[in-house]
Amino acid sequence: MNKKELEQTLVLIKPDALKNSLIGYVLSQLSEVHSGLRFAGAKIVQVNRMLADQHYAEHRGKVFFPALIDYLIGLAHYPNDPWKRRVIAFVFQGPGAIVKIRAIAGPTNPDEAREKSPGCIRALGTIVQLKDASGNVIGERMDNLIHASSTKTEAEREIKLWFKPNDIPPLMRAYPTEVNKEYYYFNDKKLSLSHEPGSVCLLAPGDYVWKSDLEALRLIYKGRPSPCNIETVAAKYLINEERETV
Ligand code: CDP
Ligand code: MG
Repeated sequence: MNKKELEQTLVLIKPDALKNSLIGYVLSQLSEVHSGLRFAGAKIVQVNRMLADQHYAEHRGKVFFPALIDYLIGLAHYPNDPWKRRVIAFVFQGPGAIVKIRAIAGPTNPDEAREKSPGCIRALGTIVQLKDASGNVIGERMDNLIHASSTKTEAEREIKLWFKPNDIPPLMRAYPTEVNKEYYYFNDKKLSLSHEPGSVCLLAPGDYVWKSDLEALRLIYKGRPSPCNIETVAAKYLINEERETV
C-alpha cells in the first residue's frame, strides 16, 4: 500500500448522534461509496474524564470546555443512565481521508453548517445555551454529532490516543510500532515498573506498542521531559477498564 492510501483520520460518533438514533445515517454518509475511504478500526467506548480531557486538551480554559467534556463523556445526554454513555470511535483510511471526512462532517457550528453546507452531517446538530448557577447565559455548546481530525498531526495524536496498534489490522497501521520489553503499570497518574495495589498493567513484554508511546514512557519513567504526558499514553489502555484509576 502506498503512503497516500495509508492516510488516516479519527472519527468519533458523539453521544448526541447515539441519542438521536443517527448512527446509521452518519455511517452511510461516511461509507466507502460516498467517501472512498475504508474502516481501519472501530470501538465502543465509555469515555472517562481523563480521555475526554486529553482529547480536547487544546480547548482547556475556554468557557465551553467543562460542558464539552460533559458532552463527550455522555453525561449531558444521559444524565441518569450511565450505561448509555458511549462514543463510537473509528479510524478511517484512504487518500485525502482527513479533508474528505471534514467536508462530509461540515462546519463546527451547526447553524453555519445548515447555512453553508446543507446536507452535511453537522447540519443536523444543535446549539445548547450554557447557564451559570443563577441562570445567566454564559456561552453555548455545539452538539455537532461527530468529531473528525482536522490535520495530519492532530490525526496521528488522536488515533494514538484512542487506539492501540492491535486495534488496527497489521497491514492498515499507519505509524511505526515496536515490541515492548518491560512491564508498565499505571496508578494515580503515576507510572511504575512493578505492580502496586490498585495499579493497572498497561503493557507487558511482547506487546506491540506505538513506537512514539514507548519512547515517551521511557522518558517519563526517567523523569525527563517527554513530547507527551503519561495520561496521553495510558488513556487507550484504560478504555472500558472498570477499575477507577483516573
Ligand atoms: O470539532 P471541530 O474540530 O470542528 O471544532 P473545535 O474548534 O476543535 O471544537 C471542538 C468541539 O468543541 C466542537 O466540535 C464542538 O462540539 C465544541 N465547541 C463548542 O461547544 N463551542 C465552541 N465555541 C467551539 C467548539
Ligand atoms: Mg478540532
